Amino acid sequence: MSELLLSGKDVSQAIREEIKQEVERLKAVNLQPGLAVVLVGEDPASQVYVRNKHKACLELGYYSEVHRLPEDTTEEQLLELVHKLNEQETIHGILVQLPLPAQIHEKAIIDAIAVHKDVDGFHPVSVGNMVLGDDSLLPCTPAGVIEILKRYNLEIAGKHAVVIGRSNIVGKPVSLLLQRENATVTMCHSRTSNMKELTQQADILIVAIGKAKFIDASYVKPGAVVIDVGMNRLDNGKLAGDVDFDSVRELSSAITPVPGGVGPMTITMLMHNTLKAAKRIHQ
Ligand code: GUN
Repeated sequence: MSELLLSGKDVSQAIREEIKQEVERLKAVNLQPGLAVVLVGEDPASQVYVRNKHKACLELGYYSEVHRLPEDTTEEQLLELVHKLNEQETIHGILVQLPLPAQIHEKAIIDAIAVHKDVDGFHPVSVGNMVLGDDSLLPCTPAGVIEILKRYNLEIAGKHAVVIGRSNIVGKPVSLLLQRENATVTMCHSRTSNMKELTQQADILIVAIGKAKFIDASYVKPGAVVIDVGMNRLDNGKLAGDVDFDSVRELSSAITPVPGGVGPMTITMLMHNTLKAAKRIHQ
């Protein structure tokens, strides 16, 4: 079987082109989407993510603010900044980069972000709206997974989707979004006893467990669509997904590579959410 390589990079590029045109149109009504990204501390991976978000804003013609705060910032100080950004008219989306230093409660910060500016989709009200199927800003990586499937015209409705991983950021929301697209969804996690039995039944297999090359061909049904959300740094410095790509690729009908698969979609969907938030405010 010759597999189809699902390029999140290409899908991402296409969406960014659409966004650019929309930003151009919005200029006519004096509306420039604005994103504020807040980084507390010096975490090297977070610094890269934040730089890339800022870069994406500039490329698309957004207004961008990056707030870099010291490692010893208090919860009160961070809350004060979030409250200020909630009120700021030039800012339509607020993203506080996670993880936060230990002295700050993540939940207190996420809860403080105005729901209509919650471009991460992490606020409990955003999550509730997503569960209920109401219009909301959807979490970026899960929304990116669905977008890849749709843009490659891969059928979701009626398919058996198996999701490995139950994190709040990926596993749980992607399961809900697949269900919303009329898939039959099975969730697997670290305590699932018969995982292979389940994954071998998957028409669509979504892998988000954070273990490099964990899923090999023995887990995969021939012809399955395989989406790898993993991003693991190997000892040799290279990036690897949760799927053993070389083992699975020929068996699958379509598969995302790492890098260049789901990864590029996260920031693109953040840009999509920021645009959506901006348009909503000014409607
Ligand atoms: N850290 C790693 N991924 C994310 C994300 O999607 N959003 C935020 N806020 N922090 C992250």
